[in-house]
Amino acid sequence: LKAKMIVDKDFAISEIDDRIYGSFIEHLGRAVYNGIYEPGHTTADENGFRGDVLGLINELQVPIVRYPGGNFVSGYNWEDTVGPKELRKRRLELAWRVVETNQFGFNEFVDWAKKANTQVMMAVNLGTRGIDDARNIVEYSNHASGSYWSDLRRSHGYEQPHNIKTWCLGNEMDGPWQIGHKTAAEYGRIALESAKVMKWVDPTIELVACGSSAIGMPTFPEWEATVLDHTYDHVEYLSLHQYYGNHENDTPTFLARSLQMEDFIRTVAATCDYIKAKKRSKKKMFLSFDEWNVWFHSNEADRKMDPWQIAPPQLEDVYNHEDALVVGTMLIAMLKHSDRVKMACLAQLVNVIAPIMTSNGGGAWRQTIFYPYMHASVFGRGKALVPLVQSDKYDTKEITDVPYLESIAIHNEEKEEVTIFAVNRHLEESLPFEIDLRSFGSATVIEHIVLESDDLKAVNTELQPNRVVPHNSGNATADGLSIQASLPKASWNVIRVK
Ligand code: AHR
Repeated sequence: LKAKMIVDKDFAISEIDDRIYGSFIEHLGRAVYNGIYEPGHTTADENGFRGDVLGLINELQVPIVRYPGGNFVSGYNWEDTVGPKELRKRRLELAWRVVETNQFGFNEFVDWAKKANTQVMMAVNLGTRGIDDARNIVEYSNHASGSYWSDLRRSHGYEQPHNIKTWCLGNEMDGPWQIGHKTAAEYGRIALESAKVMKWVDPTIELVACGSSAIGMPTFPEWEATVLDHTYDHVEYLSLHQYYGNHENDTPTFLARSLQMEDFIRTVAATCDYIKAKKRSKKKMFLSFDEWNVWFHSNEADRKMDPWQIAPPQLEDVYNHEDALVVGTMLIAMLKHSDRVKMACLAQLVNVIAPIMTSNGGGAWRQTIFYPYMHASVFGRGKALVPLVQSDKYDTKEITDVPYLESIAIHNEEKEEVTIFAVNRHLEESLPFEIDLRSFGSATVIEHIVLESDDLKAVNTELQPNRVVPHNSGNATADGLSIQASLPKASWNVIRVK
């Protein structure tokens, strides 16, 4: 068993847009209430923002956070969420069948994002609402003053505009589960007309149109072609969403899913380019992979939940070691396509299918998936280099020619560092790995971080938060311009070279 990767600093895929390490907070379950916001918590600040959670988010260096949904946004009345808290309406929230108190709203999120040192990616409701609401919220948010909605914001205590740059035109409008589900043509029209007025209010904003909710959707990829036919000239990004699960307990297949994620990205990019050609356009459409993760552990519990509770636990997947490996391969998949994928959101950030968990009134801890996401965000800034990989392969019933090695190198020219992310998909054997850094002047290994576990199903919990944690005793060494390492079975690796 062996694997080799050749990288050359002159063969770059792209400069990585930092926003590829984004995440997502939806009004869902305990993401907001008792997640990022818990007035009275021992670590809460004067706004009720949990300090322990902010501390963990800070470790992740999250550049952008999508808000407020998700399925939630398709029934969202943003006006309910601003102004004096005591006047805010309680609503039946139909996407997740809970009661929304609106005690945390749009302006609170903008305040929170500042504390979390992150940008806001805001979504508008194109489910129950449309053009009028879309232009109003941009006016409330981004217009300086002297109009009804901008002056309303000022009267709410926000003298300066929020200047939110990135806006999503609805969410998963191709899904029958969506409030106000639409055909591609219906959505294409409303997205176009909303885009026009939003940009008339603020021409500096960037817009994301909804692509398919998953590669398996029956309308994929015709959906993308139709939506872009309407919106191509008026949006900057098309979205992709994808979640994976290991329902059958078939880990070799589960670990190979990122190959399908790459196919998804390639097909969406090709569809964008087809519409570009059709329109004789000079503009390149970029991709926003604004929901991605492992999601399946909590499905059963969620089906049994009683409706109309306030902030009940929902979508609380407890992630194990193999999930962290899948998250690592998904990150590498997106970095391999960083010439097209400019934004991405790990869905989600706190409690709801999330790297960070909290208990109400209690602690906050890191799930297994926290680590590959943190390593990628912290060390994966710079240029992604074309990975020329030779690796032994395996077949599963569903997916063939799966390389045991999944890897990419990132060149940070400013710091004069190269970081190699690598997953060994082999479940029993370690993988001898050689990295050929032929075009670099010299190479010394700074550290080789490894996330490994004897138990693929091992998890971190509040009582045992450190069962799956990385160590930096990996054995990578430099021999001239060649790095040699042995990647432990079923492991995520970060090899940092200077
Ligand atoms: O992230 C959880 C949900 O997954 C989102 O609300 C929705 O957009 C997707 O189906």
